[in-house]
Amino acid sequence: MVGDSRRDSASPVDMSVTVGRVHLRHAVMTASGTSGHADELAAYGDLASLGAVVVKSLSVMPWAGNPAPRVHPVAQGMLNAVGLQGPGMAAWLRDDLPRLASCDAAVVLSIWGRTVEEYREAAAVLGAGARDPIVAVEVNLSCPNMSGHGIFAHDADMSAAVISAVVEQVSLPVWAKLSPNTDRLVAIAGRVRDAGADAVTLVNTVLGMALDPDTGRPALGNGGGGLSGRAIHPVAVRAVHDVRAAHPDLPIVGVGGVADGWSAAELIMAGADAVQVGTATFADPAAPFRVAADLEAWLRAHGHRSPGAIRGLAHR
Ligand SMILES: Cc1cc2nc3c(=O)[nH]c(=O)nc-3n(C[C@H](O)[C@H](O)[C@H](O)COP(=O)(O)O)c2cc1C
Repeated sequence: MVGDSRRDSASPVDMSVTVGRVHLRHAVMTASGTSGHADELAAYGDLASLGAVVVKSLSVMPWAGNPAPRVHPVAQGMLNAVGLQGPGMAAWLRDDLPRLASCDAAVVLSIWGRTVEEYREAAAVLGAGARDPIVAVEVNLSCPNMSGHGIFAHDADMSAAVISAVVEQVSLPVWAKLSPNTDRLVAIAGRVRDAGADAVTLVNTVLGMALDPDTGRPALGNGGGGLSGRAIHPVAVRAVHDVRAAHPDLPIVGVGGVADGWSAAELIMAGADAVQVGTATFADPAAPFRVAADLEAWLRAHGHRSPGAIRGLAHR
């Protein structure tokens, strides 16, 4: 996209966006699991300048996660099998949420469970009232690193049941985070929308594995893991594109390999309303702030006054 007017290159860009019922100050957020549970990134930038801080997924109970090693670098990305380590909902609300509130950050709470009931219980801890500064609940249906059950987001009935259970508990907007490891993504996106999801977050990690050259054994303590980073960016673009084409009115948060202004813009052109930055944060903890500034500069340089101006351009 070449700019439509040189005159516009000096104009301010309004970076605020709307994702369903949520108005965000900026189109760029953090991605769940890649910047901790609280204000860990505050040393690297102003959290209030981001669209939101999306915290690592929390369950109703404290959870220890998987054995080390939990992360492993690969070409153009990384593998992880952290296994959803977390303090549990009650401790997070007590200890971590106030730290985010004191930064004036908008917060997206991510929750997970092993059963529909556990998702319901996690949501119930939050309760039906407003819980400043939480602006939305992202339901992680797509973690590839938990043993004992498959990926919820590969089962349309289970995914719909989880979303219904969460929607019954909270009045906040609910986003369903889906998996790219299935060819039924478009149908599942429709089912979670019908179950009450305000938006879908696309995508979680891609199933992967690396071996240790000395032992021939898996490099991660868990065996398999999830691939993320630049390597999966085209997977995310395709997922966002296909869901947007099939469900033009369903708000989409795009995530996967966003590392600069153009990769963020590309997801928005594919159909995302907003984007998240994950793995790039491991190489550079300031990445979400840098990408936010980069996207703004990219839009300005191309003569656009808002992310909305390029949203879904691939479909026009
Ligand atoms: C170390 C690590 C931990 C993650 N933990 C979570 C998590 O707790 N919940 C979740 O929904 N996604 C989790 N993700 C997935 C990311 O939020 C994101 O969907 C995925 O990594 C793709 O984006 P990226 O390429 O920008 O990292 C994790 C990713 C990584 C790399």
